[in-house]
Amino acid sequence: MPQVPTHIHGWAATEKGGALKPIEKKLEPLTSTECLIKVHSCGICHSDIHLIDNDWKTSSYPLVPGHEIVGEVQAVGSDVKHLKPGMIVGVGWQRNSCQVCADCISARDNLCTQSKATCVNHWGGYADYHVTDSKYAFEMPARLLGPEAAPLLCGGTTVFSPLAEVGSLSKRKPVQVGIVALGGLGHLAVKIAVAMGYEVSLFSSSPSKEVEAKKMGVARYVNSTSAQAIADVGPRFDLLLVTANVDLPWESYIGTIRTDGTLCFVGIPPSPLSLPIFHLMSKQRKITASSIGSRACVQQMLEFTALHKIHADIEVFKMGQVNEALEKVRTNKVRYRAVIVP
Ligand SMILES: NC(=O)c1ccc[n+]([C@@H]2O[C@H](COP(=O)([O-])OP(=O)(O)OC[C@H]3O[C@@H](n4cnc5c(N)ncnc54)[C@H](OP(=O)(O)O)[C@@H]3O)[C@@H](O)[C@H]2O)c1
Ligand SMILES: [Zn+2]
Ligand SMILES: [Zn+2]
Repeated sequence: MPQVPTHIHGWAATEKGGALKPIEKKLEPLTSTECLIKVHSCGICHSDIHLIDNDWKTSSYPLVPGHEIVGEVQAVGSDVKHLKPGMIVGVGWQRNSCQVCADCISARDNLCTQSKATCVNHWGGYADYHVTDSKYAFEMPARLLGPEAAPLLCGGTTVFSPLAEVGSLSKRKPVQVGIVALGGLGHLAVKIAVAMGYEVSLFSSSPSKEVEAKKMGVARYVNSTSAQAIADVGPRFDLLLVTANVDLPWESYIGTIRTDGTLCFVGIPPSPLSLPIFHLMSKQRKITASSIGSRACVQQMLEFTALHKIHADIEVFKMGQVNEALEKVRTNKVRYRAVIVP
């Protein structure tokens, strides 16, 4: 029978940009809808770093990051029917929603105004145990139980959502997709887009990633920082999916989008966009941004990635090495997702 601990031990930032330190707290009794999960692995998404650094001005400290969790259910609240102790579940960015607003009842609960995040004002997955609302704990498919599956929960879902949508909207075959940056999100985007049958171009600032990207199925590699190289691509993409967390020459990127195509941000560069309207108008291009995915989207993503045997390429770090792992992510040295294990 799974053990229920008395305390949770985590790693927390105690100030903006600070190194993570061990922290502990008493485990409170579960509410009727919660579940307790023993963390087996947790990916390091760049959003954890944005939170540690208070880039979005929403962070409060101590802050235990982590929202790409795979673990084993230890206990469930009295109203939880779909989970049982011993099951392996995954948890992503979201930990709750209201379930009654227009977005929630139309299966767009990722957009709920009352949405709660796994590691905002709540201890995330850089810990030995995690508590979440059980609506947002997803039973993992049998093929996706290991640490390489953890990054699917946030990174995989976030890129799956716009990639699935462009396939359902575009009449052109093959759908032409550009992915900007080959990091945690970007490499999952490439693998998922290739499995969806799209022709994939990659924009990257790391020449050393070109060979591996081509093995993942990328047809074209372009220097993501060269305005000229980007302009040379010409109007081609049905979807240009930006997974970079930095500012890049967006005005040049606009020219790579074909008539009625979309520039979609999932990455969160620091500066506001400033673009000439004429560049949008001339081919009726659209600009949007996409936030994680609904519960239904997470389920579809897990089914799709299990079917196509897609998971993250990972570097595994012990919990005590979390600061080393964070530093490697910050300096763009991880290939392609750092995952921490107990
Ligand atoms: N919308 C959502 O719901 C959602 C969900 C999860 C994450 N995010 C956001 O998505 C972004 C990416 O997250 P991630 O976890 O994939 O990050 P990551 O693993 O750190 O990857 C970021 C990539 O950006 C590129 N990059 C980094 N520094 C650069 C520089 N100085 N110049 C040019 N390119 C650079 C690198 O790719 P190359 O080496 O290939 O250039 C790097 O691998 C973050 O802003 C994160 O907050 C959003
Ligand atoms: Zn994330
Ligand atoms: Zn809602």
